[in-house]
Amino acid sequence: MITKPTVDKIMEATDIVEVIGEFVTLKKRGANYVGLSPFANEKTPSFTVSPAKGIFKDFSSGLGGSAVTFLMEHEKFNYPEALKWLAKKYSIDVEETNDQPEDREAENHRESLLIVTGYAAKFFHESLLETDEGKAIGLSYFKERGFSNETIKKFELGYSPDQWEAFSAKAIKDGYQQEFLEETGLSVKRDNGTLYDRYRGRVMFPIHSFTGRVIAFGGRTLKSDKSVPKYVNSPESEIYHKSSVLYGLFFAKKAIRDEDNCLLVEGYADVISVHQAGIENVVASSGTSLTVEQIRMIGRLTKNITMLYDGDAAGIKASLRGMDLILEEGLNVKIVSFPEGHDPDSYVRKLGSTAFKTYVEENKKDFILFKTNVLLKDAGKDPLKRAEVIREVVESIAKIPDSIKASVFLSECSQILQIEERSLITELNKMRAAKGKKDYQQHQNARQAEQEAAPAYAEPERKPEEQYESQEKEIVRLLVTYGNRVINWDGIANTYIGPFMIAELNDVEFEHPDCKAFVKLYHDELDNGNLPEEQFFIHHPERLIADMAVSMLSTRYELSENWLGMHKIYVPDETQNMKATILGAIFHLKKQKVGKILENIRTQLQTAEAEADQEILMNQYLHMKKVEKSISDFLGSVILK
Ligand code: CTP
Ligand code: MN
Repeated sequence: MITKPTVDKIMEATDIVEVIGEFVTLKKRGANYVGLSPFANEKTPSFTVSPAKGIFKDFSSGLGGSAVTFLMEHEKFNYPEALKWLAKKYSIDVEETNDQPEDREAENHRESLLIVTGYAAKFFHESLLETDEGKAIGLSYFKERGFSNETIKKFELGYSPDQWEAFSAKAIKDGYQQEFLEETGLSVKRDNGTLYDRYRGRVMFPIHSFTGRVIAFGGRTLKSDKSVPKYVNSPESEIYHKSSVLYGLFFAKKAIRDEDNCLLVEGYADVISVHQAGIENVVASSGTSLTVEQIRMIGRLTKNITMLYDGDAAGIKASLRGMDLILEEGLNVKIVSFPEGHDPDSYVRKLGSTAFKTYVEENKKDFILFKTNVLLKDAGKDPLKRAEVIREVVESIAKIPDSIKASVFLSECSQILQIEERSLITELNKMRAAKGKKDYQQHQNARQAEQEAAPAYAEPERKPEEQYESQEKEIVRLLVTYGNRVINWDGIANTYIGPFMIAELNDVEFEHPDCKAFVKLYHDELDNGNLPEEQFFIHHPERLIADMAVSMLSTRYELSENWLGMHKIYVPDETQNMKATILGAIFHLKKQKVGKILENIRTQLQTAEAEADQEILMNQYLHMKKVEKSISDFLGSVILK
């Protein structure tokens, strides 16, 4: 774990504008900086950075947080990785505590797995380069495939000896725990409890995470025996989620950004050969069909994907669905196919780097047109099949969120399909109408999320439950914003707002799970003798807490100085009368809780049959009514708003 003093030093040194400025072009506007969201496709900048608070807020995607949060989102770092990135940038020595057993177990299970996979990668790499068997079998195979020493080092390629326990025995001897060896899938347990190696006599392709750590392996057999699986891959584990990993992405990410394009191939060998030829913006989905998570990972780096596919028809048809998924995510997809019998790996070796690049440029076809042609060829003259082609093509076009782009495709496809554009538009509208229902729901959900991010005091009317939730959130907002201010009201003094509020709310049960967690954390901190402040929450390692604090602190009203001028919305200054603000929030919440209890009793009264029950309920009702009245009176007398 990184020590608290180191974390503090890093936070102190960090200039959020400088950090985010490395990834987003920022312009100064008033006290803040704005830029185009790196997390969404937008034309007007809604991405705001507040240097004073040390936070960013992206109004397009809803993301927000500290410099650390930004790095976690943008670079897909985990918390310690983000801290270490900052430490490196600001030349701060990182101090880590080691081996508090229970600490380490709780927080670093993941890390233990990563240490094991890292160790294994080194073992396989050394066995490739330094053992006789590795050199004779593995290395000569890679050489035959044209991989240079430099490439073999860069991708940390390896060889697993053709024995049952070569790796497992060495790992145990070197002190690695059986548990982690099994969980990473490197070793398999026999019935008698001993371990044997999953990979035997295979060349090894380590799979790297976005930040370059080895998280899994693909092992290719060198036998031509058909009964042996060609590849053995790591099982899913806490560090390896196949659906959100792209092979080669760590080595490709910079080039993908620079080229504003990502080449997508099928296999490990394709990635390595194309990369070695100097075309570095290349990744593979490793044999599985493309997932939404994978597409989104690419989408953060570029909106353009070029798929490089070998010529066989079955493969192409299987991949058409993956491409529809790309369209749906709003990315552009082009496709390049290769002559019969070639894949990117063999073709780049045949042509060499420059000619290969030219081939890709000259042969890339827009996916929709490509799909139309593939399907048409299949359908021949059969009118029923042609009708099916039209439907399938329009279905793809309907997935393109950008309607201008979609209409361009419609007109091109109408030519290829030799059918009037109007009929295609009719077909498209039919599909959109069917899809519309689903989208409407999504739209509503998004709206709701946006409303929740806005502050309570400028809200339009809401449904009771929402209002209720917003009152709880209002408490959290006040705790974050003013909790460490001194109270100096008549009648109440010598305390701080936070502890005062917590004490006053002692009898209130928070219902919204996030608010509940937040209030509990605040309570715990007070119990430990700390008075937490804004920055404590913004930099809290638990994302839930940090996210909540940031969304409380980064309402449009706070971050945009133009808001008043632009929208003529007057936001009363709540600090003018802190007593009214704080007591108002506390007692509004209490009043709502009481209202809810009353509502409850009323429903029970309607169904209660026995007279005795009715009487008990009636008494409860009257009592709560009194409580409600006294709260109302109090609100009326003390609270001006
Ligand atoms: N794959 C797999 N299991 C298999 C076959 C393939 O996991 N039995 C995955 C691997 O990720 C492989 C990709 O699918 O890289 C593409 O398969 P293929 O073209 O057969 O593999 P290459 O890596 O190109 O291997 P080679 O060129 O050495 O035959
Ligand atoms: Mn291949």
